[in-house]
Amino acid sequence: MCPILKFRDLGDERGKLVVIEGAQVIPFAIQRVFYIYDSDSTVIRGQHANRESEFVLINVAGQSKVRVTDGKEEFIVELNKPMMGVYIPKMIWKDMYDFSPESVLLVLASTHYDDKEYIRDYDEYLEEMGIRK
Ligand code: TYD
Repeated sequence: MCPILKFRDLGDERGKLVVIEGAQVIPFAIQRVFYIYDSDSTVIRGQHANRESEFVLINVAGQSKVRVTDGKEEFIVELNKPMMGVYIPKMIWKDMYDFSPESVLLVLASTHYDDKEYIRDYDEYLEEMGIRK
């Protein structure tokens, strides 16, 4: 449902360097970048699906978890390495939570922001997915 991506580490004795190229290791052309920090372990973010946008989530510092579901199956991914990401296709419901104090969650997106392509109601999501409640 949501493949784990591994990024190349070009680090040497001076430190680590991770390169992420749009439309190469990231399966789309990157149109938008945002990052989430100062969330904590009491917060649940996300709680939406996107009709158009695809995302890659990377914890470049600290850690968090993301729960993804297509309305039938559910998976939890622990984002705890700057060299890994998770690809979230369109129409996947996602919750991000369990942020560590130093968590910086970088998000790469395939679109510019458009609130109209968000589904923020889970019942509506199930309906659009053709799943009966
Ligand atoms: P929200 O979608 O609630 O964030 P998250 O998915 O991390 O829980 O977004 C928070 C606010 O920021 C909301 O008012 C919409 C706005 N926003 C933008 O203007 N552009 C963006 O690219 C994003 C992701 C959010």
